[in-house]
Amino acid sequence: MKFFIDTADVDAIRELHDLGMVDGVTTNPSLILKSGRDIIEVTKEICSIVSGPVSAEVVALTADEMIAEGRKLAAIAPNIAVKVPLTWDGLKTCKVLSGEGFMVNVTLCFSANQALLAAKAGATFISPFIGRLDDINLDGLDLIGDIRTIYDNYDFKTQILAASIRTANHVKDCALIGADVVTAPPAVIKGLASHVLTDKGLEQFMKDWAKTGQKIL
Ligand code: E4P
Repeated sequence: MKFFIDTADVDAIRELHDLGMVDGVTTNPSLILKSGRDIIEVTKEICSIVSGPVSAEVVALTADEMIAEGRKLAAIAPNIAVKVPLTWDGLKTCKVLSGEGFMVNVTLCFSANQALLAAKAGATFISPFIGRLDDINLDGLDLIGDIRTIYDNYDFKTQILAASIRTANHVKDCALIGADVVTAPPAVIKGLASHVLTDKGLEQFMKDWAKTGQKIL
């Protein structure tokens, strides 16, 4: 399973990239706001660090304008995936831009039928939002499972990019269910290394090692 980092924070991307943990990056208008930077400039910098897909989201609402924005975003670097919302205009944009050879990430997916439409429109990635479904007491993981079944039934090549990941358990469950990619905030990715028994075990080893009076270096 691939890890994408859900942020426009260049320092955080660089840190995880140096550890080999970054297969791609996703951004959205809220994350661009949080970064406090110009979308073109920050996206360009992210693409200079990461060679995998970097999603940059259009903000227009009509297909003609989305297509124009998508082409401009795609011109930033060859690894841009143009992110479009799951609306009819977004699907039309997906069809046009994927036909032109660009990667397209269809975002804000909350149902299996929406995912089916995105695959038929030629999406490279579909982004079902798990956390936001959980927020309204629906089961985001059921959605990932349904999409996996449908895509496998018909051999769709669209990759399932599980988004709105909030917890380490989300990551594990997505891996078990067969999501192709998870996109998660840096803190969630870093949290995957944590275990209370690792901390406890290390503490004991350090205490015992100190008692030996030895040094390795
Ligand atoms: C996906 O591409 C989105 O950027 C993101 O995962 C949304 O997550 P949120 O629901 O935590 O805002």
